[in-house]
Amino acid sequence: MKVLLTGATGYIGSAVTDHLAAAGHQVVALTRGAEQQSRRAWHGRLVGDTADPASLAGAVTPDIEAVVHLAPPSGDVDVDIAVIEALAAPLRGTGRPFVYTSGVWVLGATGEAQEVGEETPTDPIDIVGYRPLIEQRVLAEAAERVRAVVVRPGIVYGRGGGIPALLVDRARRQGAPEYYGEEGVRWPTVHVDDLAELFVAALERAEAGTVWHGVGESAVPVRDVARAAGRAAGVLAAPHVVTVERAAEVFGPLFADALALDQSVSGAAVRRVLGWQPSRPGVVTELASGSYRPVEVFGAPEGPETDAEVAAVRRVVAEVEHAQQNELVDRFLSVFRRQDPVWTTGHGKRLSGFEEIETFTRKVLPGAMAESTAVYDVERVLFLRPDVAAVNVRQQPVRHDGTRIADRPEGRPFYILVKEDGAWRIGAAQNTVAVD
Ligand SMILES: NC(=O)c1ccc[n+]([C@@H]2O[C@H](COP(=O)([O-])OP(=O)(O)OC[C@H]3O[C@@H](n4cnc5c(N)ncnc54)[C@H](OP(=O)(O)O)[C@@H]3O)[C@@H](O)[C@H]2O)c1
Repeated sequence: MKVLLTGATGYIGSAVTDHLAAAGHQVVALTRGAEQQSRRAWHGRLVGDTADPASLAGAVTPDIEAVVHLAPPSGDVDVDIAVIEALAAPLRGTGRPFVYTSGVWVLGATGEAQEVGEETPTDPIDIVGYRPLIEQRVLAEAAERVRAVVVRPGIVYGRGGGIPALLVDRARRQGAPEYYGEEGVRWPTVHVDDLAELFVAALERAEAGTVWHGVGESAVPVRDVARAAGRAAGVLAAPHVVTVERAAEVFGPLFADALALDQSVSGAAVRRVLGWQPSRPGVVTELASGSYRPVEVFGAPEGPETDAEVAAVRRVVAEVEHAQQNELVDRFLSVFRRQDPVWTTGHGKRLSGFEEIETFTRKVLPGAMAESTAVYDVERVLFLRPDVAAVNVRQQPVRHDGTRIADRPEGRPFYILVKEDGAWRIGAAQNTVAVD
């Protein structure tokens, strides 16, 4: 389909562009500026401003087969209704899709209810006060033979961006991770690439007049998100909660209320009905060991293929960490190559061959984490060959609450990973204590 996309330069819009193009659609981006935008998978481009609905007249030409409206609201309800009119009117009588982006904040605090669905009445917080009205205006287009659909994303993460990036930035500046409102606040979350796939599914398959929650994880404790944001910022400290009043001084009252909003929202319907399958790591994993922690990469060209290999290498190191932290012997062993692996421990003990590694691990790992544990961060990946990677890791001793044990030295594990039968495994590993 030829799809007019507003908000195409934005955080979500960039991912939606990529996934629409990958699914064979042609993206016509509606942007405010006419400046050059390199490396975007756009088929065409139009200039228009959603704060000025008149500038959108003529944007939806007869060859446009669908509209995805991602640009944020202007703050003026009349302007936003006029924008819907300008974008939807040319589609009337055609049955073509019009996908509008709202957000889960229209549901307000979900209270005792768990995993609320799309049938739950809206109760918007102030920052999205009139958005339900816009949703209703969009859905009313179904009666005009427009395939009108509303998508409500949760808190979007991934690609190093979105609101979680703000928590990383705050942790870096403050020297400690923070979150807002109350101790138990939870956020429904979604990975930006999973969400982009949902937009493609909604565009291709959603029925007229339907609303979908774009939520991968229903209710992630924000304390955990903040702790992981601290780790992404290199700050291994306990997260602390900041009152809404204090947060309002930094973010303004409306956004502070939104950050403090406690919600549990279900994304089950879109999985069931449209076959959406969110598959990316959860927000905590993504912050702790994904796109929010840049890795230096050598020996491979920049691009999505290398990104995917680096992500796979990071998953192996994350598995080492998870298996160690939870004393999971078999999972720890599963990261090693079967054929002639060698592992030299931080104390200089060299273990040669899988059997030696297995015997040692079965003896040493159970109970080893009783007092404390460690986190492992990939810092550098050198692809010696496409299927052989030399990986520099930073190992930091932490308490079970994730805080750094200051008087214990770091380790500098070095792994040689080999890709065999599509999976990366450790062929050789050495850990060295870092002494300043
Ligand atoms: N991020 C989240 O966690 C989240 C969660 C739920 C819902 N949402 C909703 O999803 C939508 C997109 O969010 P986002 O995070 O991708 O935002 P974003 O990164 O700030 O991107 C906003 C996009 O809209 C464009 N835009 C802004 N004002 C415009 C105007 N007056 N005319 C034309 N284009 C305009 C921007 O273009 P320029 O390049 O010209 O600035 C940019 O492409 C918003 O409606 C947001 O409320 C986001």
